[in-house]
Amino acid sequence: MAFSFEQHRPTQAVIHLDHLRHNLQLLESLTAEGQFFCPMVKANAYGHGDVEIALALEQAGVTAMGVGLIEEGVLLRSMGLKSQLLFFGTMDAKGARACIDAKLTPVLSSWDQVRALRALIPNGQTFGVHLKFDTGMHRLGFEPDQVEKLVEYFHENPELDLQGVMTHLHSGEDALDPQGESFKQLRAFESLAGEFDAWAPWRHTLNSAGLLNLARLRRSGRDEMAGVSLKQGVRPGLALYGLSPVEGLSELGEFKPVMSLRSKVIRVRRIKQGEGVAYGHRWKAPRDSVIGVVPVGYADGYHRALSGRAQVLCDGRRLPVVGNVTMDYFMIDMTDLVGDGTPEAFQWKEVTLFGYDSKGNLLSAIELAEWSQTISWEILTSVGERVPRVIDG
Ligand SMILES: Cc1ncc(COP(=O)(O)O)c(C=O)c1O
Repeated sequence: MAFSFEQHRPTQAVIHLDHLRHNLQLLESLTAEGQFFCPMVKANAYGHGDVEIALALEQAGVTAMGVGLIEEGVLLRSMGLKSQLLFFGTMDAKGARACIDAKLTPVLSSWDQVRALRALIPNGQTFGVHLKFDTGMHRLGFEPDQVEKLVEYFHENPELDLQGVMTHLHSGEDALDPQGESFKQLRAFESLAGEFDAWAPWRHTLNSAGLLNLARLRRSGRDEMAGVSLKQGVRPGLALYGLSPVEGLSELGEFKPVMSLRSKVIRVRRIKQGEGVAYGHRWKAPRDSVIGVVPVGYADGYHRALSGRAQVLCDGRRLPVVGNVTMDYFMIDMTDLVGDGTPEAFQWKEVTLFGYDSKGNLLSAIELAEWSQTISWEILTSVGERVPRVIDG
């Protein structure tokens, strides 16, 4: 998604494509050889700009990617993307038509979808699909008890070209533990996936957390554990964008955040001890203070829950966010940075809300997630449409 007119605001989401390529290589190296590899570019590539990210991935050799909406797939096709685009949502007959027209590969989760699609494919022609099974997430996917009927249906309807079968882990973070939920799901999936061997479809199961955990288990030289193959097809999202969903895996390599959200201080002023800042004066200056105004607010995806909790990077230091975050602005305490200096001299200083500042210091979106009691996926995907994405590298 691109910002199509002249830019005036001093706020940017800088997209480091060199970091994207680095993370991609790392993820490819951690994926077992010959397995399905499908980076997720849904939700505007986790907020990074799906067209630019998908084209960069394709240029780097990726041949399949995942979208969450038909609209996302149609946009990518219209921008010239050639790769296979798996569509992971649901659809009616109109959606099925759009999938065919845009050559998306639907991941089918229900009989309605199967029939809607089949009805549009002329006899003698084929159209590629994947099938999704619910092994515990209880969101989308066929119940395992539908396997027999599906096998029969796909034998009778060769127009639906079964290219893949998949499931999705609900707690991929526990996939280091053979007694855990992920292993239970993977075991259930393996037994049902085997029923489709006649089609030799791809099998794919792992999100970032599952991939990293199984990569670690494979480092011991094992290919199988507790009845589960450690070689699985993967659909990484978060790690591709440089954030690891699991800790303590540094021996696997380091992911580099792809997005840096940066702005500039547009006003710096002194206030007296006891004076308040922003709506409701939730923060009152405990001493004579210097307050900087940053022109980013909750309308840009900088959550109000960060009020009084978050920090920013400014001049290599961490400065606290004070008072309530408002729709277009929030304030920072610059007292220690400015000292006895002239506040005006600090106007237009760069402020990094997350990611790297221009000197390479890092403030992770994972920290913002903790401060606002959410998850890093939400921090990335919340960055608003009115923040221009600027490609770097
Ligand atoms: C079906 C599916 N596969 C893979 C992913 C990627 O997950 P992650 O970002 O945790 O790697 C998602 C994300 O929500 C998903 O819905």
